[in-house]
Amino acid sequence: MKLQRLQEFEIDEATGSAIARLLERCFPEYPEGRIYYKQLPDFRFLCWEKEELIAHMAVEHRIVNNDGQPFRVFGVADLCVAEPFQHRRLASRLLSELSLLGLQHRIDFLMLMAKDHGFYKSHGFELVANTCRWLMITEHCMLGIAHRRVQSSLMVKPLSKKEWREGLVDFLGHVF
Ligand SMILES: CC(C)(COP(=O)(O)OP(=O)(O)OC[C@H]1O[C@@H](n2cnc3c(N)ncnc32)[C@H](O)[C@@H]1OP(=O)(O)O)[C@@H](O)C(=O)NCCC(=O)NCCS
Repeated sequence: MKLQRLQEFEIDEATGSAIARLLERCFPEYPEGRIYYKQLPDFRFLCWEKEELIAHMAVEHRIVNNDGQPFRVFGVADLCVAEPFQHRRLASRLLSELSLLGLQHRIDFLMLMAKDHGFYKSHGFELVANTCRWLMITEHCMLGIAHRRVQSSLMVKPLSKKEWREGLVDFLGHVF
């Protein structure tokens, strides 16, 4: 198994097709043939078994405003593992690699949106219920700014000593 970290602009057509195929297999509602839901991420972790892409995680590097505090975050999106390779700690490995990278490079928090919290809780994420503001995007069009309480999907993992507060979270862009 080979683990790779790629800047988004370095992704070639063949790798892009492999990512699109894996995303379609893991997320049946994913836009066909695309490798991003709303916007391109900054970099990705890819796991390969010989020539087959078996695990993927997209990451955005961004400043997010939490209650007036500008935090440097890595936003996680589209974490997935091909079914035959699940339960081998591949997703856990990708999250650990990202935490390590964040710790090495002054990242304050990892952030993500998830419906199923158990897996992420076991990897140091906590569920928060902040009111959030974010840019709504659908099919390559900006629709406006959403502003509402996000009850049971936003999760954060602290990597620094900075304190996550209950106040407004301004994503300064779209959600991850
Ligand atoms: C979720 C997913 C990424 C996990 O990948 P994985 O490589 O199998 O995960 P790991 O092997 O690292 O960890 C699995 C372990 O996490 C823990 N875990 C997983 N889900 C959990 C949950 N809901 N609650 C508590 N623990 C959980 C368990 O200990 C599990 O151990 P097991 O394999 O013995 O059952 C994978 O199942 C997947 O791609 N699913 C489809 C796409 C998806 O839903 N992605 C998440 C988007 S938010």
